[in-house]
Amino acid sequence: MKHLIGINDFSMDELAELIKVGQDISEHPKKYMDRMKGRVMATLFFEPSTRTKFSFEAAMLRLGGQVIGFSEVKNSSVAKGESLKDTVETVGCYSDLIVMRHPLEGAAKLATEVLDVPLINAGDGGHQHPTQTLTDLLTIYKEMGRVDNLNIALVGDLKYGRTVHSLVDAMSKYDNNTFFFVSPKELEMPEYIKNSLKGGCFFESTSLEEVLPKVDIVYMTRIQKERFDDLETYERLKGIYILDKEKMELAKEDAIILHPLPRVNEITEEVDRDPRAKYFPQAKNGMYIRMALILKLVEEAEKNPQRPVEEVYSTIYTKCPNPKCVSNHEYVESVAFHEKTAEDLAYSCEYCDKVITI
Ligand code: NCD
Repeated sequence: MKHLIGINDFSMDELAELIKVGQDISEHPKKYMDRMKGRVMATLFFEPSTRTKFSFEAAMLRLGGQVIGFSEVKNSSVAKGESLKDTVETVGCYSDLIVMRHPLEGAAKLATEVLDVPLINAGDGGHQHPTQTLTDLLTIYKEMGRVDNLNIALVGDLKYGRTVHSLVDAMSKYDNNTFFFVSPKELEMPEYIKNSLKGGCFFESTSLEEVLPKVDIVYMTRIQKERFDDLETYERLKGIYILDKEKMELAKEDAIILHPLPRVNEITEEVDRDPRAKYFPQAKNGMYIRMALILKLVEEAEKNPQRPVEEVYSTIYTKCPNPKCVSNHEYVESVAFHEKTAEDLAYSCEYCDKVITI
């Protein structure tokens, strides 16, 4: 069974195929209108969503399939104290595919342990958001004609912003992409992402003005208020990077501005009229690439219903030190930490990727 937990679940060939199909769907949507006839997709949203939820639902409906689900925990048995695993196992009995968003890191991975239908991670806390990245890849490909040889600025909340974690995972697979991480010290890119960037193809800066003239893509993000342990820090940092008309003058003429949305104040509305602003076309691409993704996962599951062979790692078993890890909130028998590199004896949590050294 193929699930989408993180972007590394797909090979380079699979990513290329998804982009190709996504583009074809955007050009010839009618060709695909019956492909999911008779299938049911369930959307389990334990956290708010506009684009991800609606674009998934629109995607399934445009493929001829149907949709069930909840967008508020209070409308499900979770409100009665049901465990995450019991909820998804039950919903798996009624559907051909599950799309889930959850506030805990690693929740999607945990859910797959009891499922025999494919699951798509639509965001697990501040960890990963791979379908936003597929959206971003399709947009970058359509706008720039390539997904390699690019300078990319990721701006704002790089600590809690799950979209940038998945985007770095994806863009670092392609040749010669260079990242400029623009954030205040408190919201730096997590170590597990920086560690994965072998060859040092990234720079860190606190200044948006300094980075703007150097990059082809400016990826703005919202400061993730809901993930802060103390709101004082949020209040201090919330207006730290605001892309306005004046700053746009520093950006390259052929740069593009992306944002996973929703925006709060980090891009002023006057920028929307700049031809380089691509965040609304980006939101639309989200529907097309999700159509391609639904087709791939459901059709593959129907052809090939067995479970994958587990990869072999050197593994230790211990409690995860990350308080936001799903393993500290839901019942799990044990937590495996898989070896990352042989040299420094670093291991990462199977659910949230938290790195520990021993
Ligand atoms: C993002 C998310 O949920 O992580 N939104 C989205 O899915 N397009 C970004 C955000 O909430 O800031």
